[in-house]
Amino acid sequence: MTPNAASNHIREICARAPILPVLVVHKAAHAKPLAQALVAGGLPVLEVTLRTPAALDVIREMTGVKGGIVGAGTLITPQDVKSAKDAGAMFGVSPGASDELLAACEEADLPLLPGAATASEAMRLLARGYDMLKFFPAEASGGAPALKAIGAPLPQISFCPTGGVSLQNADSYLSLANVICAGGSWVAPNALVQAGKWREIEALAKEASLLAR
Ligand code: 3PG
Repeated sequence: MTPNAASNHIREICARAPILPVLVVHKAAHAKPLAQALVAGGLPVLEVTLRTPAALDVIREMTGVKGGIVGAGTLITPQDVKSAKDAGAMFGVSPGASDELLAACEEADLPLLPGAATASEAMRLLARGYDMLKFFPAEASGGAPALKAIGAPLPQISFCPTGGVSLQNADSYLSLANVICAGGSWVAPNALVQAGKWREIEALAKEASLLAR
């Protein structure tokens, strides 16, 4: 898959909902009810971070949930790409980008949302053909004003800001011309997941799904 095709695909996926839940799931048993709650709440696109031993099993379980589009986050190495693809991930997300990671995703046909925090990082990815990027870490990198400023000279790049995005500040990002969606973990707080409070998670998802773009 070419970088350009990957970005086009990711752009379509990101257009499905204003918020992309960033999930850190510790138990495979939580995967299905969690995905069902988020999808029912109106957030069909799910990023399962490869930060827990259960993550690949979680992806496998979630791919069986109707209406969900499940991707793997925190891709760092080519092995991560292979594992994510084998588990059934439909897309990948990375906090930054390395040539090895980009090549692995392109070879594996795994559309990637690569991370960039500066104009130079964004330009390097653009030169390779990626024009749909994750702005990470969004709040720590200057937040919506920084992303707006990057958009002035680089309007051809679209972003999914992630990192410190919340229900309170999501509007400031979603109102920018260069933002398609935003990523956030607040819709699936660990305490609610551990307690199996799926109705409450569905309500959080619903609230997030109604954010205007
Ligand atoms: C992450 O990589 O953990 C994401 O950026 C999520 O950040 P958040 O927990 O601040 O939403």
